[in-house]
Amino acid sequence: MSDEKKRMLRSQSWFEGRGAKNFAHRAWVRSRGVPTDHFDGRPVIGICNTWSELTPCNSHFRDLAQHVREGILEAGGVPMEFPVISPGEMLTRPTAMLLRNLCSMDVEETLRANPLDGVVLMMGCDKTTPALLMGAASVNLPTIGLSAGPMFNGSFRGRPFGIKDAWNLAADLRAGRATNQDFEEAETCLTRSVGVCNVMGTASTMASLVEAMGVGLPDNAAIPAQDARRRVLARMVGRRIVEMVREGLTLDKLLTRKAFENAIKVNAAIGGSTNAVIHLTAVARRMGVELTIEDWHQIGRDVPTLLNLQPSGRYMMQDFHEAGGLPVIIRDMCEAGLLHGDALTAAGITLAQANEGAVCLNPDVIHSVAQPFMANSGVAILRGNLCPNGAVIKPSAADPRLLKHRGRAVVFDSQQDLHRRVDDPALDIDADCIMVLRNCGPKGFPGMPELGMLPIPAKLLKQGVTDIVRISDARMSGTAFGAVVLHVSPEAAVGGALAVVQDGDLIELDVAGRRLDLLISDQELQQRLAAWTPPPAPASRGYAKLYVDTVNQAHDGCDLEFLVGRSGHDVPPAQH
Ligand code: FES
Ligand code: MG
Repeated sequence: MSDEKKRMLRSQSWFEGRGAKNFAHRAWVRSRGVPTDHFDGRPVIGICNTWSELTPCNSHFRDLAQHVREGILEAGGVPMEFPVISPGEMLTRPTAMLLRNLCSMDVEETLRANPLDGVVLMMGCDKTTPALLMGAASVNLPTIGLSAGPMFNGSFRGRPFGIKDAWNLAADLRAGRATNQDFEEAETCLTRSVGVCNVMGTASTMASLVEAMGVGLPDNAAIPAQDARRRVLARMVGRRIVEMVREGLTLDKLLTRKAFENAIKVNAAIGGSTNAVIHLTAVARRMGVELTIEDWHQIGRDVPTLLNLQPSGRYMMQDFHEAGGLPVIIRDMCEAGLLHGDALTAAGITLAQANEGAVCLNPDVIHSVAQPFMANSGVAILRGNLCPNGAVIKPSAADPRLLKHRGRAVVFDSQQDLHRRVDDPALDIDADCIMVLRNCGPKGFPGMPELGMLPIPAKLLKQGVTDIVRISDARMSGTAFGAVVLHVSPEAAVGGALAVVQDGDLIELDVAGRRLDLLISDQELQQRLAAWTPPPAPASRGYAKLYVDTVNQAHDGCDLEFLVGRSGHDVPPAQH
């Protein structure tokens, strides 16, 4: 390393020199047993760890971080591990999405405030990935991602059992087709190891996009959490980030417009989560890359689904790994000219180079561009008087019969209203109706919970109805499915048209025509909106108030307005 390069390291502002402050910085770090040569100008690498027992999906991160640490040391760097808020999907209430932006602030401020030259982002459960990417993008250090990896496949009474099967079993229980005993037994069969949900939910979607955008190394997405090969990957990540610091390979060189376009296409090819639309928008806006929800349609529409994985297909994440993992899909798509193969990756080579030679070992799991699993894929962006700023649907997860549908609205004003009435035998609803849920957007709930897959009313389930059109300003779990229109923007709580839909109104959904309309006249709509009064603010203090006061709408990524953009990584002044 040249002297000039050495001087460029941020950490030397803390650790090099004869001043009292340099003395104190070194002395306090030495207190945990760090030798003198760790202050000789080596890259100092943060290991940003979302380990938490409150986030079971990430609860192997203390072990995994040890392997990252070994890699950093092997490459001549100095590891410095630190915790950040860990928004876990299963336990956090009202929704981990509320804490995504808070976590991103934690990441951003910790990175900038400390003697770090590069960072490894340890990300797993749904929101931890966008939160860490958003925070890191606003700082723009050399950055590499390491994902948690999925749980092993679930197995129930000798058959594969994924989260979609669990949702179906819950519906069977409500319809009287399954017993409590079945349900309890299934519980222990679903989560056979730590790691993220074992289907193509939001966590594995985001891990795949980390890999597709070149922020993670090949195989980042699919190696199971408890497979020894993930520990090897962790070590490689540790080695690589040290080199990235020496090369000056900052995050903006990876997260370019090309990378986001690749992510949108890979999301379509893997049948990825609708949540990716919101998260990628937020990350792009931190990075200063122009990306709108319209891009999801323009860029993703001709990409077929290649992956036969739940919730769109049949298999689970472990099967994906054993079939060759995401490198197979990236290689195939690069060869077909669908991806920007020249996009740079954290490996220091292009995306095409990093994935060349990947071999498909099970064509029933990973189909090809030549023989796709499904032609109709990705996410469709809808417009219309119900959603002038957009709404999202995942056609591959819906009953195709419902993709063009006109029906009578049955409106629920809130989550509580939904729970109170959905299974009431007196509910006036049939299979052709359209269920509407409102006041569940970013400001309204607050935090935009995953309530979009409204439960099908029990009386329809008993008739054998398996899908029905549902519309809301909420999100849905990446593991959910159905003819579900989400992210209606503007949301009801800020006076979007969703706020004034009435029971009995006709609504028309036309996915091919990209329309979602409330079939009333403009004049009638304007009159109803003029008579509408906003609901009381759902928070009066604390972080929730900051969130409600400043969160932007779904089509803008649900970031806090004042967090959009980046402030870089200049070294702040010292207090001493
Ligand atoms: Fe953590 Fe699904 S609950 S990834
Ligand atoms: Mg989820």
